[in-house]
Formats: sequence, structure tokens, C-alpha cells
Amino acid sequence: MEPAKLELSREEMRAFGYLVVDTLVEYFSGLRAEPAARKSSRQELESLLREPVPEKGSDPGELVRRLSETVFRSMMHLDHPRDFAFVPSPSNFVSVMADALASGYNAFVGSWFSGSGPAQIELVTIDWLRQLCGLPETAGGLFVSGGSMANLTALAAARHARLKFDFSHAAVYCSDQTHSSIERALRVLGFAPAQLRKLPSDEGFRLPLAALEREVAADRALGRLPFCVIANAGTTNTAAVDPLEELARFCAREKLWLHVDGAYGAAAVICDEGRRALAGLELADSVSLDPHKWLFQPFEIGCVLLRDASLLKNAFRIMPEYLRDVYRLPGEVNFCDYGIQLTRGFRALKLWLSLKVFGLGAFREAVARGLELARVAEARLREAGCWEIVTPAQMGIVSFRYFEPGRSEEELDAATERAAAGITASGFAALTTTTLRGRTTLRLCTINPRTTEEDIRETVARLAKYAREGGGERTGDGNPR
Ligand SMILES: Cc1ncc(COP(=O)(O)O)c(C=O)c1O
Repeated sequence: MEPAKLELSREEMRAFGYLVVDTLVEYFSGLRAEPAARKSSRQELESLLREPVPEKGSDPGELVRRLSETVFRSMMHLDHPRDFAFVPSPSNFVSVMADALASGYNAFVGSWFSGSGPAQIELVTIDWLRQLCGLPETAGGLFVSGGSMANLTALAAARHARLKFDFSHAAVYCSDQTHSSIERALRVLGFAPAQLRKLPSDEGFRLPLAALEREVAADRALGRLPFCVIANAGTTNTAAVDPLEELARFCAREKLWLHVDGAYGAAAVICDEGRRALAGLELADSVSLDPHKWLFQPFEIGCVLLRDASLLKNAFRIMPEYLRDVYRLPGEVNFCDYGIQLTRGFRALKLWLSLKVFGLGAFREAVARGLELARVAEARLREAGCWEIVTPAQMGIVSFRYFEPGRSEEELDAATERAAAGITASGFAALTTTTLRGRTTLRLCTINPRTTEEDIRETVARLAKYAREGGGERTGDGNPR
């Protein structure tokens, strides 16, 4: 070891590298038997991990072992087959190794000059997603950290294309089911809160076209400038898909930008059933789609696509003198021109490598399996007789709430919450609640292709028990009772 050069010897690199790989292989192959989630108290983690800046070094292998026993045990495993909370991230080992390669080669994919090979892989992979979404050849985009950045990037480009620098009278429209990252993106971009019109969703939690038409007309009558509609291709709460085709027709008529937030759901377009559910996605001006959700990638990888990719360049390109060598040859693609980051890593590699290794057919089956598992979950919930289905299985999500005759809504809220808290604390499965129509509601998001029907059956059985009895403590070894 040459600490002053921050170097390990060849043998030390190998030994450390193998230890890391072995640790990950054990994690991947043993995950099903581990708790789906484990949250430690702040106090416990402070006592385990608080320490002064280390002046002297330590053995890297020892440190990895310590991390495995503390840090990596104290987390929700979003790739666990019984993690149904929020939006799971059922990643895959090939992509994890791709991340190691991207990081190991320390690829810089901000400019062609510094990373032509990696930039070409990003171009190709982005183009695959463009084709899968049915967007025209003029479309393009880039990989970003996730859905929040994808929405921000798309809205920044939309604002620049349609409003330039004066947007004080502009109005943006979405349903009340729209992800908070849209509101945050508009805040970051300098829109006042009142410029976002959040319309009440319909009985299927979709953006109602008639209400949108009325709102836009009312705004125009008041001299305001309707500018952009945000449509959902799979809301976070219930996976509702807004009426994309109708919205696209309306936006074309009214000259409004249509942004489709498909961070969660747009990936379903790769299978037949998903493509039918998402008809109209191909008409969007911009789309967000997160490979770290339903394309089985580890964090962080989101994607933003614009129908006219040159609009990203118009919005973001600035050519400072210290990058003069970068801008010599036309035809070279500098991804720093298409988004917010100059220095950006090689996110595309993991999606490219896993698609190449497994093939799109495997991804298609994996997505279709998630759609099917939500239907299995709905059937088991109906059979159990103690659940009200709030929204039936659609796009990999079913939402439901505890039901028992003679109980008040408040008591049912409390039982629903007990079910989620109990099963998650037990470690057997992880579920989270949300609020729908003012009432506490549970969701199962079933997009992990490694989830079995038995996982679903047992989860539903245990949920009923926790709803009635509470509990969910772990045994001393951290395993569920
Ligand atoms: C519909 C939707 N949009 C945006 C986001 C934000 O994505 P991220 O957390 O990757 O920033 C999410 C996250 O779950 C989402 O479900």
C-alpha cells in the first residue's frame, strides 16, 4: 500500500475487489431470507458510527465488513422481493457491475472530447428508449439522476422554448395526483405557487379533460398565458394514467406543451399491455422515464426525452472559453449542452449492459410479470374479505384499505396504518400508506420480477393479522417473528 499516493498494490486491489464482489454476491443471493427493511434509531447509529475524522487509515476489508453489519443492515432493501413500498427498485447484478466499471474508468460523459465512447453508448441507449416510447427521430435526451431531475430538465426546456425569460403570466396544469417533483421543479424555475393549477382528479385519479379545458379558457379570458400541461403515465399513488391521447389533442389545439411524467410508469411501454395502457405517450413534447424504477437499474438513473431534442440545446448550451477545444467538430455530441450537469458520469452503461446481457425480451417479460403480480395481489385481497379495494390492479399497483363492518372510518384508518407499520417493522415485507380521498390507504407496488405468488399470498395474510392485532416486533437477532 502507498497511502500517500492513495494507492493499493495490485494484490491488495484484487483482494479488496474480490471481497466487495463476494459481499455483493452474498447480498444478491441471500436477500430473500433477510428482512425487507430495517430502520435503526438515530441514537443507535450515532453510537455505532459517530467518530472523529480518521487521521490514520484502516484495513479496507474490515471496513466493508463493518458496513455490512451496520450501515447496509439499517435500510429498506428496495430490491427485496417483498418490498412493495413507495416505488421499489428491483435492480440487477449486471448493472451493479456496470456501475463499478463506469466508476472504475471514471468516465466523464459531459463532452465528446473527454468521453466519446461513453457518449456514443449514451446516444445509442437513449435512442433505444426513444424508439420504445414511439417518439420520432427528432427526439432525444439524456440520462439524469432520476425522475425529479428529468422533470426539472424537461420543464426548463419547455419554459425556454415557449416563454423565454418572461413567464410571470404563465400557467401550468396538472392533476392533484401529480408527483411533488413537478411542484418543486416549478419552484426551482422561479414560478410562483399560484401559477400551478392542480385540478381535482376524477374517480379513477386521472386528470379530467373537461375541467382542464374550462381552466385554460378561464385563464385565457383573464389574460393569463396557459403554457404547459403535465400528464401522468402512472401516478405514484395508484399508477393512474391520464388520458394521454385526448390531452395531446387538446394541447396541440391550444398550443400547450405536453409533458408526460412517466418516471414510474412509462417503462411499461415495452410490453404489449403497457403499450396499450400508455397509448398517446408518443405524442408528448417531453417524457420522464426512470430506469431506476421499472427498468431494473440501481440508483441513480432517470431519463428525459424531448420530442425535439434541439430544444434542450437551446435551453442549456453555454460555451465558455475553457471548453473551446470541446466545440470544434460538428456532429460530436456534448451532453453538457442538453442538461444541467457538465461533469456527469456514465449512467448509460448499466442500462446498455443489462439490456445487452439479458435482452429486451427478458425486460419485457419482467415488466409484464409486475403487471400480473398486481392482479394476483388484488385477487388475494378480495378473497381475504377484510379489504376494500380502493383502486384495482393497474400498471403494477393495487391500493386498498382495511374493512370490518361496524368500524368507523377513523378505526379503519388506524387498522390500515397498523397493517403497514406492523409488517414493515417485522421485516417480512415493506409497505407504505398514502392518503386517497382523505382516507389512509395501503399500496402494493409489485414491479419486482423475483416476487412470487407465495410472497404475495403470505404478505396479504400477515397484513390482516397486523391490521387487527398490531405488533410486528423483531426477535433479538433482527429477524421477523
Ligand atoms: C411519477 C413520479 N414522478 C417523479 C418521481 C421522482 O423520481 P425520483 O425520486 O427518481 O427523483 C417519482 C418517484 O417515485 C414518481 O413516482
